[in-house]
Amino acid sequence: MNDLMPTILVIFGAGGDLTKHKIIPALYDLFLDQKLPQDFSILGLDHQGWTQEEFNNHFKENINDFSRQRKMNEKKTEESWRTFSIFLKYLNLDFLKPESYALLHEELKRSPKYIFYLATAPFLVKNIINCLGEAKLFSNKESRVVIEKPFGKDLKSSNELNETLTRFLDESQIYRIDHYLGKETVQNILALRFGNSLFEPLWNRNYIDNVQITVAEEIGVESRGNYYDKSGALRDMVENHLFQLLCLIAMEPPVDFIKNEFQNKMIDVLHSIRPIPKDQVSNFAVRGQYIGYREEVRVDPNSKTETFAALKLYVDNWRWQDIPFYLRVGKKMPKQVAEISLQFRSVPHQTFPGKTCEMSMPNNLIIRIQPEESIILRFQVKRPGTHFELHPVDMRFCYNEYFPEKFPSAYETLLLDIINGDGTLFVRSDRETAAWSIITPVLDDWEKNIPSDFSNYSEGSWGPIASDELIERDGRKWLLTSSSMEDHGACPLP
Ligand code: BG6
Repeated sequence: MNDLMPTILVIFGAGGDLTKHKIIPALYDLFLDQKLPQDFSILGLDHQGWTQEEFNNHFKENINDFSRQRKMNEKKTEESWRTFSIFLKYLNLDFLKPESYALLHEELKRSPKYIFYLATAPFLVKNIINCLGEAKLFSNKESRVVIEKPFGKDLKSSNELNETLTRFLDESQIYRIDHYLGKETVQNILALRFGNSLFEPLWNRNYIDNVQITVAEEIGVESRGNYYDKSGALRDMVENHLFQLLCLIAMEPPVDFIKNEFQNKMIDVLHSIRPIPKDQVSNFAVRGQYIGYREEVRVDPNSKTETFAALKLYVDNWRWQDIPFYLRVGKKMPKQVAEISLQFRSVPHQTFPGKTCEMSMPNNLIIRIQPEESIILRFQVKRPGTHFELHPVDMRFCYNEYFPEKFPSAYETLLLDIINGDGTLFVRSDRETAAWSIITPVLDDWEKNIPSDFSNYSEGSWGPIASDELIERDGRKWLLTSSSMEDHGACPLP
């Protein structure tokens, strides 16, 4: 174990999905790797009325699966779980009652450092911060607060939440978490761009024709209807995860990898995004809802919430002027895939006799975030034969071929950063302001103009027709690697 300061991690919403599926498994992994402070404990707060045993059992099955993935035998699994579960404590508590916080105060007296992790529904966050602040639970300068996205629900509420936080806390104590920044493949975008001299000369409007970012999920809203229906794809994924990817692709090289420098360069991108004109939202943004969404548990049967969103954005600066960035995200898509495709300009002149569609196929650099984490460079070669025929091929780097060892999960990386007080990969308040400023006009327009065609895409499709039209109006197509290219009418690979 390392000898970091004794720490209590207080989880608000300890009975929820995020705690069960992400936070506790990540902490368990850190524990197995002996990365947690020596005197560490986890205080789970919620209002299920569980006993301590019920609370522990709530996580046990998941954790055991996890140990099996690490190829631990039964005995070791049992032993590790027993040791880990000593860290866990459950407290039944109503977050909305100020008197609950006196109880919490009592619990925390013995530790010099506490981290409050708000894994709750977004609408509770402001209230909890106020209660913690009023109860003087932030007076210890070692205390930190972790807030999940979405951070607010529009520009106004995000600014209000920031005001509430800064009434009690210094910015350095606030960790706005976006788990995409903890993903290995997302961080690898920085390595690819700034650890190599090969790509940077081409990484601009002179060589790149357009950038496409797709984050598709096969699953629907599952058991999260209550949260999702108030949120929708723009708030749930675009304002945060997709914008992080866009910033990493479009940012200028940071001088060094320290919080403010890295964040400044990311935020510069958001500041450069051309505002979407209020009266032309439909030219830049498309929404969709999958058929069957309205029948999902805890979803309004007349819901207008989007489960798919596509945007066209421009980054108005020297590097990217007039190069479109197409973003799309959706649930119930044909497959789970997150990838970024940089499409290079076509050759200026066709030297070879052109007869097949491959002739006009431009080069692509594809960064696949998940699954099958990889980087693919697609270029043309001569197809063997007596005729001169071009054919696109892929040069492919696959993460798991080079690095077969298990990657740390995004939450593992980020939780360790929080414990160590490293805020580099967390979101600053001005980033939130900039991101909400970009999407608030779209949210306002969608709120005002009720969609007439919902639900408008079927499960297993790539979203509504309007999404294809958005990009096809510019003479382009959505691209994805491998078989899905064919789904899009792009040139198929053999
Ligand atoms: C979460 C969203 O932030 O990210 C979910 O709330 C989404 O709706 C999830 O399913 C996707 O994360 P990942 O890591 O599976 O791409």
